[in-house]
Parts: sequence; structure tokens; C-alpha cells
Amino acid sequence: MSVAKKQYKRITVKSLTEMKSHGEKISMLTAYDYTMAKIIDSAGIDVLLVGDSASNVMAGHETTLPITLDQMIYHASSVVRGVERALVVVDLPFGSYQSDPKEALRSAIRIMKESGGHSVKLEGGREVKESIKRILHAGIPVMGHLGLTPQSIYKFGTYTVRAKEEAEAEKLIEDAQALERWGCFALVLEKVPAALAQKVAEQLTIPVIGIGAGSGVDGQVLVSHDMFGMTHEFNPRFLRRYLNLYEDMGNAVGQYVKDVKSVDFPNDEEQY
Ligand code: KIV
Repeated sequence: MSVAKKQYKRITVKSLTEMKSHGEKISMLTAYDYTMAKIIDSAGIDVLLVGDSASNVMAGHETTLPITLDQMIYHASSVVRGVERALVVVDLPFGSYQSDPKEALRSAIRIMKESGGHSVKLEGGREVKESIKRILHAGIPVMGHLGLTPQSIYKFGTYTVRAKEEAEAEKLIEDAQALERWGCFALVLEKVPAALAQKVAEQLTIPVIGIGAGSGVDGQVLVSHDMFGMTHEFNPRFLRRYLNLYEDMGNAVGQYVKDVKSVDFPNDEEQY
């Protein structure tokens, strides 16, 4: 059955719930800077995530743990300046919300005030319940994140698929239901079995956005550097590369070096 799409001038948290109820899938990508945000937003993305994956793809860290709140605010404010339509979600970085709910609220307020982002995302369920509630109480929309939660990498030790065992799957379902009950507007499910993700999406009225969670959810998110093929060492099964920019950009640089060395660049038309 084809679904008539509503045209949204500006995506809000309400638009996402509407999309889910109309059966329209939600598209989401990461961005960390103005130029990339402008390109992705102009191409019609629904949600731009200023992910703490900036720690990996922008700063070259092995994990997402080192990125700071100030650095996230810097990335987020650059993204916001490039966006006209998409909803901007900003990750609360590791250490900015886990220790106490008041600090969590202060961190979320700084993101909203200093970057102009439209909402925040944080990892975890019942462990961060009070932080989520405090942020929501202040009127700040919160997106949850369950399944593989990279900020807890040292607890799990690997980036493998989560919630394959029944007990973990049950806990994930309960956490997802709780996130909806507390008032989160959406939820990211990362690297969990497709059948489990579909079950969660069917049970919730808020949208469930998957990454490595199959097609039965309400939308998909990828790290833009991965889907553009700018990264090439990270090859999870769930990743579809739409370009091979690692090779294309490398070839362009190689050609530029040649042209400079041979004085082919600049030519007569490229100078004053
Ligand atoms: O930081 C990030 O890019 C994320 C996505 C993987 C969902 O949280």
C-alpha cells in the first residue's frame, strides 16, 4: 500500500510521531559541522544527529568517551547554523548526565542554550531514569538509546550484537516501555536482533529508529562518514555505503599533488 506523504517545512518531535502513525519511515544521519549539515539537510533528511561518534570520526579517538560537553556544543552549534528543515538531536556526552540528575539537567540546558539544538539524546534506561525525568520536566525533548550503548563499551568489552539472550531482551523491552512512559519522544535501538527491534517498535507509539536493528523499526540512522564511505576500516554487516569518498578524495588529492608539482595548476584562467 502506498502512503501519501505529508510535506513538512520543519521537522518537529510531533512530526516524527505523525510519521510513525502514518507508516512513513524516518531518515536520520549524523552531522558534526556546518557544511555537512547543510548538504544533508538540503537533501531532505528528517533528523540530524550530532552524535558523540564525533569523538571517533572527527577526533580520531577509539571510543566515544573522551568527547566533552564543550566540544559537543561546538559541533552542535555548527550543525544548527546549516539546518533549515531537519530536527537536530544532540548527544549528551559521557560524564555529563550519569552522576546526578541536576548535572544532567545543567548539561542539557547548556546544549539547548549554547548550540540551539532542538533536543538531546542519552544512553540507557532505568539507570538514568531520574536524569531523563529531570530533563523532560524542564521541557527539553529527550531521545533514548538502548541496545549497544557505546558509552558503556568498557562494561561490555565488545561492540557485538546486544540482547540476543532472553533476559537481556526482556530488560530492553521494559526499558523501552519505560522511556515512552516517562515521555521520551523517540528511541534509538543499536545493534539488536531484527525480530526484537520490530517487537519493540510495534509495542511503542513513539518512533524507534534503528542502526543495525533491521527493517521492522520506524526509521534508520547511520553515521554519515560511514555511509559516504569516508571511513573504510569499519565494516559492520548493517552498514550500506552509498559512496566511496575515501578512494575518491584520495584520488583527488593525488591528482592535485601531481598538478601542483608539474605546474599544471594553476593555469592561465585560474590566476589574476
Ligand atoms: O553517536 C552516534 O553517532 C550515535 C548513532 C550511532 C545512533 O549515537
